Amino acid sequence: MLIRDANAPDWPAIWPFFRSIVRAGETYAYPLDIDEPAARTLWLLPPPGRTVVAVDDAGTVLGSAHMNPNRMGNGAHVASASFMVDPRHRGRGVGRALGEHALAWATAEGYRAMQFNAVVETNTGAVALWQSLGFEILATVPEGFRHPSKGYVGLHVMYRRL
Ligand SMILES: CC(C)(COP(=O)(O)OP(=O)(O)OC[C@H]1O[C@@H](n2cnc3c(N)ncnc32)[C@H](O)[C@@H]1OP(=O)(O)O)[C@@H](O)C(=O)NCCC(=O)NCCS
Repeated sequence: MLIRDANAPDWPAIWPFFRSIVRAGETYAYPLDIDEPAARTLWLLPPPGRTVVAVDDAGTVLGSAHMNPNRMGNGAHVASASFMVDPRHRGRGVGRALGEHALAWATAEGYRAMQFNAVVETNTGAVALWQSLGFEILATVPEGFRHPSKGYVGLHVMYRRL
């Protein structure tokens, strides 16, 4: 697996799994009916942000991540990141590799910490993955997320000093 910068030609490979993840409404607080141009703008970040894809030997896009300053101005020394792995390629270490890549990028760029603002508490696989990469749950916004089948659930703010 190779992780490299995402380019415009990668978007058609990202959009199908982006769309299914967002439409499912279980893990991201994005508009469920987001259209393709809006999704593309949201996901493919210009500098100082960065978007990457994980690809296999055949060049198939397995997953994607974007990373960015969490805030502007005097909050810009804390990074954030978001991750999506194609459901057909989960459980093979792609998410972990993207997480490690984002941490390495943020460290190299001089960020002092990485913060995830909205990790859905029922997304237990992701929560466990981020904890295994050194993130702690700072707080949980009660009922911050309306899960389509589980109702109102908490949103974790997760943090790791770099
Ligand atoms: C979360 C996500 C990025 C993980 O990607 P992945 O490629 O399946 O993850 P990995 O194969 O690297 O697995 C990483 C670890 O998480 C664990 N894990 C992943 N999904 C899990 C699940 N659904 N239940 C339990 N554990 C899970 C694995 O056991 C693995 O642990 P290990 O490395 O010790 O074996 C992926 O499931 C995804 O895109 N989900 C939808 C979008 C999302 O939730 N993004 C994150 C928002 S915070």
